[in-house]
Amino acid sequence: MNQLDSRLRLCASFVRQGARVADIGTDHAYLPVWLCANGICPSAIAADINPEPLQSGKRTVEAAHLEDKITLRLSDGLKEIAADEVDDIVIAGMGGELIARIIGACDYARDPEKRFILQPMTRSEELLRRLCAGGFQILRQDCCVAANKCYTVLLVQYSGENRSYDALYPYLGELRPKENPTHLRFVEGHISRLLKQAKGDACFAALAKDLQAACGKEPT
Ligand SMILES: C[S@@+](CC[C@H](N)C(=O)[O-])C[C@H]1O[C@@H](n2cnc3c(N)ncnc32)[C@H](O)[C@@H]1O
Repeated sequence: MNQLDSRLRLCASFVRQGARVADIGTDHAYLPVWLCANGICPSAIAADINPEPLQSGKRTVEAAHLEDKITLRLSDGLKEIAADEVDDIVIAGMGGELIARIIGACDYARDPEKRFILQPMTRSEELLRRLCAGGFQILRQDCCVAANKCYTVLLVQYSGENRSYDALYPYLGELRPKENPTHLRFVEGHISRLLKQAKGDACFAALAKDLQAACGKEPT
């Protein structure tokens, strides 16, 4: 059976026991195979917009003899996946803006029974902004390091609340950088990008300074 790296392992840890899962942008299908092989999910849909990754996913599913549990499906986001087929939806390894677009295009995303496990490779702050503006709540957030890169994973559900949030929330989310060194490393990534942007815009400098304070660090 395939072993997951710590990034996909963290995504897997957010999936509910017994959930029917859809993995959007599955590529190699490692995640749905691991979830079904380990008895977390009774069934899974491994979906991708491109046929080539689905072929690679098919090989993984066949090698694990999970053809009866995992359906491979060509789909742009969730367009070809019906609401009554899934409980938990994983979207990992894509940019934050693309993840936000996929959720925005799905009418049943606003069903509070559904949960999203999201792992943005870039622009996580933009994803958080759009989720909060759209009435989604971040139930959990954690970080991990894989191949010396730091990643964040979000567990998200629609609540319909238009909660107000401050300017730091898209960068901090539910992370605790003062208490958790991996969270700190992730937020430090935001700080260094903001400091680069600050050369052209003073408001980024102020944000970077406030984030440093939230991390318990002296401003640089
Ligand atoms: C970098 S891979 C990530 C694979 C896996 N989810 C992971 O995290 O390791 C991104 C995959 O997303 C697929 N993809 C990109 N846009 C998509 C969309 N709109 N709907 C479904 N899949 C998409 C690509 O074809 C590619 O296979």
